[in-house]
Amino acid sequence: MKKTLLCMVALCLVGGIFAQQQNVDLVVNVKKTGAPIQSTMYGLFFEDINFGADGGLYAELIKNRSFEFPQSLMGWDIFGNVEVRSDGAPFERNPHYVRLSHSGHAHKHTGLENEGFRGIGLKKDGTYRFSLWARTATNSAPQKIRIELVDAANNPIERKELEITTDEWKQYEIILSSPLEEAKATLRIFLTSEGPLDMEHISLFPTDTWKGRKNGLRKDLAEALNELNPGLFRFPGGCIIEGTDLDTRYDWKKSVGPVENRPLNENRWHYTFTHRFFPDYFQTYGMGFYELFLLSEDMGAEPLPVVNVGLACQYQNDGEHCHVPIGELGNYIQDALDLIEFANGDISTQWGKVRAEMGHPEPFHMKFIGIGNEQWGPEYPARLEKFIEAIRAKYPEIQIVGSSGPQAEGKDFAYLWPEMKRLKVDLVDEHYYRPPQWFLDNAARYDSYDRKGPKVFAGEYASHHKNRKNNFESALTEASFMTGLERNADVVHMATYAPLLAHVDAWQWRPDLIWFDNLRMVRTPNYYVQKLYGHYAGTNVLPLTWKQAPLTGQEGLYGSAVIDTNKNEIIVKLSNVSQENRQIVVSLEGMKKKMQLRPEVETILLKGGADEENTLDTPDAIVPVSTSATLNRSKLSVDVEPYSFNLFVIGYTD
Ligand code: AHR
Repeated sequence: MKKTLLCMVALCLVGGIFAQQQNVDLVVNVKKTGAPIQSTMYGLFFEDINFGADGGLYAELIKNRSFEFPQSLMGWDIFGNVEVRSDGAPFERNPHYVRLSHSGHAHKHTGLENEGFRGIGLKKDGTYRFSLWARTATNSAPQKIRIELVDAANNPIERKELEITTDEWKQYEIILSSPLEEAKATLRIFLTSEGPLDMEHISLFPTDTWKGRKNGLRKDLAEALNELNPGLFRFPGGCIIEGTDLDTRYDWKKSVGPVENRPLNENRWHYTFTHRFFPDYFQTYGMGFYELFLLSEDMGAEPLPVVNVGLACQYQNDGEHCHVPIGELGNYIQDALDLIEFANGDISTQWGKVRAEMGHPEPFHMKFIGIGNEQWGPEYPARLEKFIEAIRAKYPEIQIVGSSGPQAEGKDFAYLWPEMKRLKVDLVDEHYYRPPQWFLDNAARYDSYDRKGPKVFAGEYASHHKNRKNNFESALTEASFMTGLERNADVVHMATYAPLLAHVDAWQWRPDLIWFDNLRMVRTPNYYVQKLYGHYAGTNVLPLTWKQAPLTGQEGLYGSAVIDTNKNEIIVKLSNVSQENRQIVVSLEGMKKKMQLRPEVETILLKGGADEENTLDTPDAIVPVSTSATLNRSKLSVDVEPYSFNLFVIGYTD
């Protein structure tokens, strides 16, 4: 008995070792150059959620700069004699301003201070452009204010005087410097003359914004976006397109023109989740459609603006009475047409002129428009159809993106896809926030999709671990799933992870691609997955097979391959979700005679523990690491480590 048991154990061990030592023989057929990878394939989804715009990417450091929040002084502490007024403001859509008057006592001071967005982040030796609109009020004598940057311990760290010289509203500007780093500073303003004095649109920007622009973007965040090499930029959301009701929908026309006169909008994320409640979260539209088009252009990404389809958020509004009646969609449709004119129209057109006056006479060459966000039910196609008719008639070259609802399968999804085909939209937006296992189970999702219908835009997706962390498990399962996007690039034309940005002190939704505080930011492991796909997108799909079948989870392995005919590279992407080392042999077959493979292969490894994360304090815990391997003729033999994502970049000459 004992002997038999021993024999069985020995056999198992040998079997196990044998199984471990077996090669996985992958074949990449270079002759069968497949579908082109669209330049839009890997992109960005941007929404003002988690303080993504105001308090985030938009570099303005003053909260409620125009005193337009429903509580006019939210974000401000006042002292002495300060009054909020609304008679005779310089900007009609932002009617409030403050009047600073003498306190009545020489030792009582008048002024106000702003708390910023969870504090004001100041860099050591950073310089900051303070500006305001002001006028002397009831008499024409010049008035003086003192502007201070104050650290978290209440010590002034910079102070400057400014004289307001006229009783006409005028913009004043001074540069403040910070000798030290402070993440939670405040801005304080004292009236230092008799007064009274009126002030409006009080603003503070780092001078060092992305591309050095005034009204610009936070440089580190914009750089991190640009570094992803995105081919597509979808904006402005997300649910904020729809609004909690139609009055609070994102209205792009309010987001363009002089920044001082862009009206305030609610931000639905201030109250969507009562367990993540942010009563001071509003949209200033300071980073509006012009700035978003400009960012797309800067990054070399195709802009994909999305407009409201006449439906308020369907999660929060039940019944036709909440939405725009089909017969009354005229203004909404006109908004979509005007948006195309704003982006692409000649400067002699009404909206092309607005763009030109903002500083961009050249068109933005917009090619895509999304109509509706995450809509469902018959109310959606009924409205979408009207938009399509109008857009096709005036702008037949523009590609239209429709929605398949909030779920990746099920009743709404099954209803909407045929509807999207019937309406002949160009792309269908799919959303999936699902557990890690779903991403593995769906790696072959698109292998069987209809090739004749609209193309797929995986417009919002993220692997949601049970504790909603940006851990390596979420990143690795996304990387595995994305091999399926890549393999099916003939039908999948766009994909954008969501959401993009989150402030550590003010988030509503997680996981997110990039986390930040007032001074620092951290690229998540999910970010690096996107970056690797973005940089090694290739130009065409190549078939990668194991035993004549695509690699979609056999032995815990997921894989895809592309060729980049511009860079002369063949790129193999492999993820291993098993806990075993896998010995892989990649054989490149079907090469033309003149194609010479370079023996040195770049290998890029992204690896971490399943629950490991990058944090603001340990931002580089999980980062891609490059090494090299050697090709033996046309075969690459490599060990693929347990629980890892790997790229093999094989150069060639031809
Ligand atoms: O990305 C967060 C939200 O998820 C988006 O605003 C919405 O479209 C989806 O429900």
